[in-house]
Amino acid sequence: MRNYLILLAAIAFTSSAQADPFAGGDPKAGKRLVEKYCVACHARSHGGDGSAIYTRPDRRVKSAQGLLSQIRICNTNLGLKWFEEEELHVARYLNDKYYHFEQ
Ligand code: HEC
Repeated sequence: MRNYLILLAAIAFTSSAQADPFAGGDPKAGKRLVEKYCVACHARSHGGDGSAIYTRPDRRVKSAQGLLSQIRICNTNLGLKWFEEEELHVARYLNDKYYHFEQ
């Protein structure tokens, strides 16, 4: 019985994590990181505050997983040596503000 309850709790936890693909990410920390490391270059190529890169009709990122992958690619290309936690903050910020993926 006890194991059964633990299993149920685990399932509940997993499904709530799916509803928020970047649970644990802090959008405020993400915003600071994006403003510091990412905006200038996007603004040069796409004008304004650079956010058009996330909202253009032919944008590359099509899913929560894709967003995280793209952030990893940028992180690696730029040699930022971010931890997974920082990637999660940025993913959460960009998703809350621009992408709105639910999974
Ligand atoms: C040196 C310039 C540069 C920097 C710095 C940069 N990017 Fe980018 N980023 C690009 C370019 C160029 C593209 C578009 C690639 C394309 O259109 O194929 C892009 C695309 C993206 C996309 C995909 C947008 C879409 O189409 O949905 C995301 C997300 C992204 N960048 C996140 C980041 C993050 C997070 C950082 C900061 C860690 C960052 N970028 C820093 C140049 C840069």
